[in-house]
Amino acid sequence: MNNILLTGGAGYIGSHISELLSKKKTNNIFILDNLSTGYKILINKKSHFLKGDINDVNLIKKIINKHNIETIIHLAALLNVSEAESKKKNIIKIIF
Ligand SMILES: NC(=O)c1ccc[n+]([C@@H]2O[C@H](COP(=O)([O-])OP(=O)(O)OC[C@H]3O[C@@H](n4cnc5c(N)ncnc54)[C@H](O)[C@@H]3O)[C@@H](O)[C@H]2O)c1
Repeated sequence: MNNILLTGGAGYIGSHISELLSKKKTNNIFILDNLSTGYKILINKKSHFLKGDINDVNLIKKIINKHNIETIIHLAALLNVSEAESKKKNIIKIIF
């Protein structure tokens, strides 16, 4: 199985990507989303949904280890530019 962590899977792009990924039976999809702008109804029923925030580094580490994640597709994002700008420091902390 290819264990995939898809962040933002309850959003517009993420829900389409998870739909495409789930067509391949060897893909095992774990969706991490805090539902801040996403919708439960968009979450692929063939995936495993984990409600949480990408800023929670310990949670990300736990998910990667517990579910033997091999691939990460990162789509969790704030589309509102002013909100994204004001929270940029948090995002940079996570990346580095
Ligand atoms: N929509 C488009 O046309 C388009 C085009 C090109 C690129 N993109 C990019 O694709 C990505 C996703 O866009 P979208 O349109 O699907 O947005 P969206 O708002 O529909 O989805 C984003 C998802 O991320 C989740 N999220 C936000 N912050 C989070 C956090 N801190 N922790 C966990 N989950 C969090 C939201 O709840 C939501 O489900 C963005 O990077 C966007 O710039 C979108």
